[in-house]
Amino acid sequence: MAPRTPSPTHVALDKALARHESVIAAAVEAFGLPLHLIFKDEVEQSANGYKQVLGRLYPNSRVLFAVKSNPCRGAVRTAARLGLGADAASEHEFRVALEEGISAERIVANGNAKTSRYIEAIVSSGALSSVDNADEFEELSRTAAKRRVRVPVLVRFRGMPLSGFTADDQTTAAEWTKFGFPIDEADQVFEQVARSPGLRFAGISAHVGTQIADPVAYERLAVHMIALAQRVRASGQSLSAIDLGGGYPVSFVTQAEWVALQAELLERLRAPADCGESVTWTDFPMGYDGVAPDTDSPSWVGKAYWSAFPASAMLEHILTFRHPDGRTTAEHLADLGSPTLIVEPGRSLMATAGVTLAEVRGTKSVLGNPVVSLDLGITNHGTNLITNDIFPVAILPRKADDLPVDAFLAGRLCFSGDMISKVKVRLNRTPHPGERAVIYLTGAYCADHFASNSCGFPLPGKVAVDGASRLEVWRHPQTFEDVFGPVGAV
Ligand SMILES: Cc1ncc(COP(=O)(O)O)c(C=O)c1O
Repeated sequence: MAPRTPSPTHVALDKALARHESVIAAAVEAFGLPLHLIFKDEVEQSANGYKQVLGRLYPNSRVLFAVKSNPCRGAVRTAARLGLGADAASEHEFRVALEEGISAERIVANGNAKTSRYIEAIVSSGALSSVDNADEFEELSRTAAKRRVRVPVLVRFRGMPLSGFTADDQTTAAEWTKFGFPIDEADQVFEQVARSPGLRFAGISAHVGTQIADPVAYERLAVHMIALAQRVRASGQSLSAIDLGGGYPVSFVTQAEWVALQAELLERLRAPADCGESVTWTDFPMGYDGVAPDTDSPSWVGKAYWSAFPASAMLEHILTFRHPDGRTTAEHLADLGSPTLIVEPGRSLMATAGVTLAEVRGTKSVLGNPVVSLDLGITNHGTNLITNDIFPVAILPRKADDLPVDAFLAGRLCFSGDMISKVKVRLNRTPHPGERAVIYLTGAYCADHFASNSCGFPLPGKVAVDGASRLEVWRHPQTFEDVFGPVGAV
């Protein structure tokens, strides 16, 4: 494999690990391993990126933290202190956002199957609801009318040509998705809102998916959303908000690593079964799925792990690229009367601020491939259950005589699919049992998305460190009793 060079994010996280070494040691002593660790300065820097782009290009805007990307009080409190709003995906996310001081007008309530309690909470707070379906419109309207209020709604849309830009299970505005109304039914939906006594039309929303690395996806989104907004204006309704959702990418690897990985995987897929080195577990084809390996230059489809437009750079691109009529998105928004632009980043605020520390428990070889087992299950590092993600990993401390090795990483759960990395990662050395591994860029989704007590393991702790090396507990590690309850309790 080609030599790996550390990405700027990777370097920033290494610096933060070194700078806060003693407080991190104290946290490991107190909470044990595995441990999820967040650097609050890095979260602030990412949030500032969004604020600066919007301040310069489109000030009438709101940045909402997508709570699902790091669903805990500490993360929401941090977002509130940074002046962000919240994108809530459930009644509980909605409640924690309010409890942590985010005012209702800075919250968008999302979800495709909102419960009646969630709807009650939305109506009584006056927050914006991003409405997913006609039944939800009816219940919202009924609930609001009973209280003699009108609840502001965004209509959420799907049906745009947006498939193939991320993993199929993470694409959320294309044709095949459970979210939102199809764009070709927009006029009927706008009429339904206008007829509903408890609703006040506020605008439109869409969310492309997550880790959308290709700017073309956002260009398509912007073109379709501007066209929808023009239909709203033509129908005589006023438009106060356009919500473009989240999905902004982070670069898990450098461009050179990304190019090398694709080339090495292709070479492996083209090689006869028993020669060459595996790049992926079971030699699964990742983004080359369904592509005949002998095609001259097959293109990668699906999730990408590097982007030329990470985080707020993608938002800048959205606002400044030229639509087919030659006008930029920012100019189109101005033509529409400058509605509030809402963006909902999650991953790009949190991922690059987090690392996970875990203990190495052993190494082995499977069909000639090195496999390192970690005391960390996929249930605590779970995005790999949806797609086979790539995270940089190192064995600490780095040593002058380290000899790099490419290895797969296994978790501790009792099922074969529990692989922490099904893509070979370059480790700085072959580790020994008891050594510590650091997995970089795990601040979003990894710690929580599939968090469970599979095999009776407790959920690990989650702590944050601020610039002054002060520790803040975001989640206490569970104890044996948290998982199984005290003796005799059941
Ligand atoms: C409606 C909505 N907004 C925002 C987000 C956040 O996406 P990301 O974390 O990729 O920025 C999600 C996540 O899927 C979402 O469903």
